[in-house]
Amino acid sequence: MPDKRRKQMQHLADLRQQSQEGGGQEKIAKIHAKGRLTARERILALLDEGSFHETGVFVRHRSHEMGMDRFRPVGDGIITGCGRIDGRQVYVFAQDFTVFGGSMSEANARKICRLMDQALENGCPVIGLNDSGGARIQEGVRSLAGYAEIFWRNTMASGVIPQISAILGPCAGGAVYSPAITDFTLMVDQTSYMFVTGPNVIKMVTNEDVTFEELGGARTHSTRSGVAHFMAAGDKECLVMTRRLLSFLPQNNLEDPPRSVPTDRPDRREEALNDLVPTDSRKPYDMHEVIRLVVDDGDFMEVQPLHAQNLICGFARLDGKPVGIVANQPKVQAGVLDITCSIKGARFVRTCDCFNIPLVVFEDVPGFLPGLDQEYGGIIKHGAKLLFAFAEATVPKLTVITRKAYGGAYDVMNSKHIRADYNIAWPGSELAVMGPEGAVNILYRQQLAAAEDPDAERKKLVDEYNELYANPFIAAGLGYLDDVIEPAETRHHLITALHNLAGKKQLLPPKKHGNIPL
Ligand code: HXC
Repeated sequence: MPDKRRKQMQHLADLRQQSQEGGGQEKIAKIHAKGRLTARERILALLDEGSFHETGVFVRHRSHEMGMDRFRPVGDGIITGCGRIDGRQVYVFAQDFTVFGGSMSEANARKICRLMDQALENGCPVIGLNDSGGARIQEGVRSLAGYAEIFWRNTMASGVIPQISAILGPCAGGAVYSPAITDFTLMVDQTSYMFVTGPNVIKMVTNEDVTFEELGGARTHSTRSGVAHFMAAGDKECLVMTRRLLSFLPQNNLEDPPRSVPTDRPDRREEALNDLVPTDSRKPYDMHEVIRLVVDDGDFMEVQPLHAQNLICGFARLDGKPVGIVANQPKVQAGVLDITCSIKGARFVRTCDCFNIPLVVFEDVPGFLPGLDQEYGGIIKHGAKLLFAFAEATVPKLTVITRKAYGGAYDVMNSKHIRADYNIAWPGSELAVMGPEGAVNILYRQQLAAAEDPDAERKKLVDEYNELYANPFIAAGLGYLDDVIEPAETRHHLITALHNLAGKKQLLPPKKHGNIPL
């Protein structure tokens, strides 16, 4: 090889080596000491082996201020490229904390924007591995402009390609808004945090003392705020969860989610379902059990499992086809609908609808939660979100009433009247304006006051009410239910209905966009 060519090759190898090392071995050792992976290791753990194809490898920042021209690392602390997950093409970026704390520069933003443009042009998901101290302070408004370019692309891509954000370190300031616009946010317990303003600023402005973890750790966002959809114990688990999540999602809004080879019989009867719901309608049971017994292999990926637990949302498969499950949880607050669970449910329903994932609802709901907190907090508009989301969804929509379907919650929870396709109930179901005790108190107040034995009189009236209204056959007789079935046969009915609805096409009236009550 001629000398000149050898030098060129050596130069290339040196630069590539620099790009591999990011901020250097010392900083990499610090990351490892905390039990975390580097940006490159994360990409390798996320993608199918050998599938990563990097782009923008030699990009450097163009800043000169504050001595920045003395350190212009190859790649500028952001790794971008394309790879495969279970053989399906995805676009990935990973922020490298060893380079300027993973902070967002103008060059960083250009690399991410180019990646997002390509993902949109090719109809593939984007996965962001976030680990950043926020806007690169030395770059001032250029960094802010870069963020806004990303936010705009996040918004344009919303509902077109799946966007997933894994938070694997700090995510501070305006940096949180890109993950917030994406479809799913995963966080790692104890090593990741998200906040708009940090503990120091909060102390200055409101005099409140709070730690990083309490303010914006994975646990806080998984339980209180609902910002995080999933919490992992470590980097590796987070990346495995990301892969699993993607297996339920299509490449883009024009495709169906991938069907896996079914390993569970579609006509499997499940005798345990016949005895699962207590006959005393005031007694709770665990709706997770119902879901587990019905779906393929009992495999359920719950979304926001620690937040608003009175409504369960998550992904499963029926005969290999991904479905989105929304279910009241009688074990938590009797499965009542309140502000937080309405918001959680509405978001999930819309996510499923934009990605062609059929909805399956398991309903046991006593109504909306009464109380000043709820009314002053705007349960009217928040409950309406869930109603709006179900009403506007055009994917196949199936509902199984396992026990109670009372009041407005009956309408909201994917009823026939807001265009659900297949509605069935189990034999002991109660469909009415309100529960028997409440109804009897309103209808027979004077009669009860005048009764010699008010308790006996109340019991008689409650029994009469139950006989008359609290059963599924009035609704079934009116055609509001398609069938009343033996619980053991639920799986078979749902799968048959899903197959029959495979060709469903429903168009909404032409409009710019609906005006969901936000
Ligand atoms: C430039 C940064 C940086 C930043 C960290 N670094 N954040 N460089 N811009 N925003 C650098 C540090 O100088 C340091 O460089 C290296 O990254 C590691 O940082 P450390 O502080 O040593 O790490 P650690 O102790 O783990 O603390 C991490 C941290 C802290 C909590 C993230 O660095 C921090 O508070 N950073 C600032 C966070 C912030 O306020 N960002 C701006 C938010 S406002 P050396 O050379 O010493 O290794 C914002 C607006 C966006 O983002 C608006 C968009 C609309």
